[in-house]
Amino acid sequence: MAETKNAFVCGHPISHSRSPIIHGHWLKTYGVSGDYRAVDVRPEDFKDFATNLVANGFVGGNVTIPHKEAAFALADSRETVAEIIGAANTLWLENGRLCATNTDAYGFAANLDERSPGWDAHKTALVIGAGGASRAVIYALIERGFKTIHVANRTEGRARELADRFGAKVIAHPFAALDELAKDAGLLVNTTSLGMKGEGYIPLDMAKVRSDALVTDIVYVPLITPFLADAKAHGLKIADGLGMLLHQAAPGFEKWFGVQPKVTSQLRNMIIADMEAAK
Ligand code: ATR
Repeated sequence: MAETKNAFVCGHPISHSRSPIIHGHWLKTYGVSGDYRAVDVRPEDFKDFATNLVANGFVGGNVTIPHKEAAFALADSRETVAEIIGAANTLWLENGRLCATNTDAYGFAANLDERSPGWDAHKTALVIGAGGASRAVIYALIERGFKTIHVANRTEGRARELADRFGAKVIAHPFAALDELAKDAGLLVNTTSLGMKGEGYIPLDMAKVRSDALVTDIVYVPLITPFLADAKAHGLKIADGLGMLLHQAAPGFEKWFGVQPKVTSQLRNMIIADMEAAK
């Protein structure tokens, strides 16, 4: 009989996580003898948890808020993408060493590849927000050959930090520049928490956006954020953020369980049903 492998998602709080549904679905679909469960780990307990994965019965797992930076710092070995983003969301063991990567950039690009092929044709993007999620998006855009990445943030200094981190392709702006920047961008990405659960709005006039632009949001609750609804009402193409969550999960599953899983409409619909039930 195959050995049962156990993986986790840890955060604090963690009860809202949909990762157990995603990995549980794949374990069942591919007939893998394994388990994936949510573990609530307090910040003061994270080091002990992450450095004793084997003793805790795990082959690896996902890390979410507030442990992404700590996971990065504790790892013995890190993939370049995690080094550049400065945070890790996926841990696994290799010869007893704790390895870390960040799959958010991959998830972002894979979602747009699936839902809006050709999204990377126009090489100027406008990224709204300058937090951890923004770093993953900028990494993906640079990988895909974007030449100009405007980053607008409420606190302009944080956008400037990203420009320093990523180099000349990234240009920092205050929110006041949004309307002017929108005229130029073929891709607009919200990486802020604005619009989450319908709260807050981005001060951007959609009428200024190019008619061929794609508008996307990494917030996926609600699925159609006010930002996306506004873009749609202006006749623009939109892509919601749920697929980023689904796709970012795939590399971890492959590392722990040895099967490359597929993101299907069945899986997407399962998560949407869970979101509806939680309303
Ligand atoms: P994450 O890692 O999820 O990106 P974060 O690092 O806390 O989270 O970053 C949150 C982003 O949302 C930041 O760009 C933040 O802007 P500031 O840098 O100015 O704080 C943005 N954000 C959050 N609440 C906001 C609000 N009410 N108005 C404008 N921007 C907001």
